[in-house]
Amino acid sequence: MFLFSTKAELQEFLSSFKQTGKTVGLVPTMGAIHRGHLFLMEHSLRENNCTVVSIFVNPTQFNNPEDLEKYPRTLDRDIQMIETLSNQIVVFAPSVHEIYQGNTVAQSFDFDGLENEMEGAQRPGHFDGVGTVVKKLFELVQPNRAYFGEKDFQQLQVIRKMVEKEKLPIQISGVPILREENGLAMSSRNERVSEEGLKKSAFLFEVLNKAKELFQTETIEKVQQFVESEFKNNSNFDLEYFTIADEETLKNAQTKEAGHKYRGFLVAHIEGVRLIDN
Ligand code: PAJ
Repeated sequence: MFLFSTKAELQEFLSSFKQTGKTVGLVPTMGAIHRGHLFLMEHSLRENNCTVVSIFVNPTQFNNPEDLEKYPRTLDRDIQMIETLSNQIVVFAPSVHEIYQGNTVAQSFDFDGLENEMEGAQRPGHFDGVGTVVKKLFELVQPNRAYFGEKDFQQLQVIRKMVEKEKLPIQISGVPILREENGLAMSSRNERVSEEGLKKSAFLFEVLNKAKELFQTETIEKVQQFVESEFKNNSNFDLEYFTIADEETLKNAQTKEAGHKYRGFLVAHIEGVRLIDN
């Protein structure tokens, strides 16, 4: 296990490595590592000679200062978790100053409108912050491949758009959602839900699966109504949004068109915790 906190140390380590023609995979995270993150690392370990995991709570992607402050910072535990997977992983855990040099503002990006849908509409400026830090990490690490979870599908598409627009020579891999046995998508936020609440949260994946099945035969409007009524009949959850969107544009879809792929996106709250799935 290699741990660096400065860009200079990381670059020096990587340059000797790259000279020998070896490939580098990057897994960006904000820490509070759980098995979903490890799943991304497993993919990178399989496909590259070297895997770099960044652990950095990025201030520019939070639009609520309280959220930023409350975000768990558990570096020691994170390192222990990562070591259970491999002792060859390179962990990069910089300070805010090391990344932003006193200028913690986000660059403005044009992601062809992807940034304004769903999570972008709920959290203005969020994807500018994500784009800013991921671009800095790409410039620093210059990975051959970078890994992002489908759990945050919109983020994955935004990063793909950035790579396409800026013509970066990086392959972006979307990794499927790792779930608990009952179907709940793994997330650091699950730790804030009671055991009872976690059991009840099987509901989210059940509704998504039923919606997916209905989608084969019914109109989008019918599927939408179905999901909304399921949530009305379940007092454990507050539905923030359920949207069926085109995977390419992420725009809310009204009708199904041949040749397009669609995905259902869900945000719901239980015990004051915001859970996201698709
Ligand atoms: P973070 O929330 O720590 O997530 C890091 C990566 O892990 C993301 O690509 C996310 O989609 C993936 N991930 C989380 N839970 C997952 C699960 N259950 N299955 C599969 N993948 C999962 O996303 C961020 O950090 C930040 O926005 C970041 C990209 C690091 C930029 O700051």
